[in-house]
Formats: sequence, structure tokens, C-alpha cells
Amino acid sequence: MEIVVRPDAEAVAALAARLIADRLGARPELVLGLATGRTMERVYDHLVALGPDFSRCRTFNLDEYIGIPPESEQSYRHYMEENLFRRVGIDPGRTHLLDGMAADLVAEAEAYERKIRDAGGIDLQLLGIGESGHIGFNEPLSALMSRTREKALTLTTRRQNAAMFGGDPERVPARALTMGVGTILDTRELLLVATGSAKAPILAKALEGPVTAMVTASALQLHPRCKVIIDEAAARELGQRDYYDWVFANEPEWAPYRG
Ligand code: GLP
Repeated sequence: MEIVVRPDAEAVAALAARLIADRLGARPELVLGLATGRTMERVYDHLVALGPDFSRCRTFNLDEYIGIPPESEQSYRHYMEENLFRRVGIDPGRTHLLDGMAADLVAEAEAYERKIRDAGGIDLQLLGIGESGHIGFNEPLSALMSRTREKALTLTTRRQNAAMFGGDPERVPARALTMGVGTILDTRELLLVATGSAKAPILAKALEGPVTAMVTASALQLHPRCKVIIDEAAARELGQRDYYDWVFANEPEWAPYRG
């Protein structure tokens, strides 16, 4: 794992977007894993501005609420259309999201795993982190080997995501479909993005604490190619900051991104 700390949320989004655009430039048929949430809105703004070619890539989103139709503005399908898909003109047939309205959720989850496999696996997966420590919607105690499936959401998550539901956590769906932690770890490269002081305590646990199903983001420590890009506010509780800064300043892989 490599952790890069940038001064603010804008610089974080700019760097994350450049990395994604570079991967797309190097491999136009990239299989790209996508995430939702406020943090990603800025990342997608920067990505759209960089203007990489999405015509040959395929995308798979991490998760979707159960019981919210895709055309509802509360759905992650809608979020993706608004924040990225429509703006880059990607063929909708190349974008994949779980269907939270599926009559058979087990079959939907299995079909999603199959689609990812048939696409040759995900090359780069973008991730945010929830205040519960989740990646995707893998709430505490999600098996670290879990696959795509239905998951009950914690109250912490329903509170965090209440803005789109009139500010009322009770109106946030209680369940979601999500890639499993194991599905996420199968990805060739991972990129976690987080900003703001509210994420500082959970990031310290996830990045520097023990690997535990209580904080599913801690499973990223097991992945051989995982990059974490966070801002000063989110990095506040990290203990090994000097080392992370040294790596960013000195490792050749980061040279194009330092300026
Ligand atoms: C939701 C998504 C997560 C995402 C999280 C972060 O809960 N299911 O995949 O990581 O939001 O949200 P935000 O960027 O708004 O803090």
C-alpha cells in the first residue's frame, strides 16, 4: 500500500483523476471499477475535464441500494449517469451496475460476479470509505472473502447517506447489493480516495490498524497494488506520515504526479 497526502480535497481529486486517465490512456479497453459518494463527485469533475477516451472501456460499480429504481435520483445508476456517464458519452451498454430492483437478488449478485469474470476481471477499482469503515457497502463483520451479495446497512451509513433521502436516515434503504471484499481484492489495482476530518479516525484504523472484518477497508492492506490518496484533514491521525511523504517524494512511480 502507498499513501499519498495532498493539501486539500481539490488536489486529491485532481491526482486521482490523473491516475485514472493515465490508466485509460495506457489501456483504452480498461475494465474500470467505479464508486459513488460526495468524494467521487470532485474526482469525476476532474476526470471529465481531462477528457480521456471512454469509448472502449467497460465499467462496474461497487454497489446499489435495494428497492430504489434506476431512474430514481436516489439510485447510484442515476448518480453515475449525472456525474460521469452522460458527461463522457460512454455507451450505456458498457456500464454495469447491480439492479437493486431484481426479483431474485441472489441470482442478480451471481450474474454480476459472472459479468466481471467474463470481462476479464477489473483492472482498476476506485474506492471511497464510509465512516463505518466500509468499502462498497461491506459493513463491519463482512467476511473478508465475501463475494457480491445483499448486505444490511449500519445506522452510521444510513446517517452518512441521508442527504439524498431528505436528511432522514430512516428513509435510506436498510439493504444494498455490494461487491464483496473478496471481489474487490480480486481487482488488479485499487485506488482509495478520502477527504475531510470526519474520515480521519476510520482511516487511521483502516490503514495502520490490524486487518479486521470490523473495518473492511483494512483488507486493502492485503492487496499488492493499492494506492490511497487523502487530504491533510483526513490524514490527521496517521502515525507514519513522514514515511508516506518520503515515498511520494522519492519513488520513481510518483515522479509524474509530484508537481
Ligand atoms: C457510500 C458508498 C461507498 C462510498 C461511501 C463514501 O456509502 N456505498 O462506496 O465509499 O459512500 O461516501 P462519501 O464520499 O460521500 O463520504
